[in-house]
Amino acid sequence: MSRGLRVAIDGPTGAGKGTVARMVAERLGYRYVDTGAMYRAVAWKALREGVDPDDAEGVASLVRRTRVALEPRADGLRVWCDGEDVTEAIRSVEVSAVVGRVAANPAVRRVLTEQQRQLASSGGVVMEGRDIGTVVLPDAEVKVYLEASLEERARRRYEEMRARGEGVLLEDVRELVRQDDEMARSRATAPLRRAEDAVVVDTTGRSPEEVAEEIVRLVEARAGVK
Ligand code: DC
Repeated sequence: MSRGLRVAIDGPTGAGKGTVARMVAERLGYRYVDTGAMYRAVAWKALREGVDPDDAEGVASLVRRTRVALEPRADGLRVWCDGEDVTEAIRSVEVSAVVGRVAANPAVRRVLTEQQRQLASSGGVVMEGRDIGTVVLPDAEVKVYLEASLEERARRRYEEMRARGEGVLLEDVRELVRQDDEMARSRATAPLRRAEDAVVVDTTGRSPEEVAEEIVRLVEARAGVK
């Protein structure tokens, strides 16, 4: 019996990866893995412990003694960090402002990449991030690269933050998104880029349902030829 494929979804901040990946996983009965949440949990821990996000050694030692767990629940994914529920805390402006620096740390990437490969090892997974198709699962059966205009991506992030009750301004969120893009694309280790064999899907002006449907069809087509 097939154990299910590995679906890699990458793209910049606000391209719609989270919403779409969750829908695809639900449709296929696969496990959804939000790798950004894992980087966020490590950044949250650094802030909590007063470790400077730019202190490479300090953050490297921190990630080795941190346990991040993703728990699928009917109402969404819950994120745990050393036994503490950090699902909401990791989305704060404070964590968002430093997570790019934490994610640029090669030791952090090494540890989390290993955990992500473990999570995908039995197949039947939709994994979402920046380097899934290129580094974490280069042999994933289905690879998708989501894009959208900066304006639309900033607006989506802004609406998410407002919905959580954060009093942010659109122009500040646009700047956060722009900086996050720049960090993710320019870092030396595992920069954000499209895998050569990824299908590019532009989500500007499209609903998450529509995009999820397109990806489910890609997975079904790939499963059919196995
Ligand atoms: O998708 P997100 O905004 O929750 O990601 C949080 C941060 O982690 C963002 O700075 C990009 C980074 N990230 C990464 O470097 N590699 C991944 N696979 C996922 C996220």
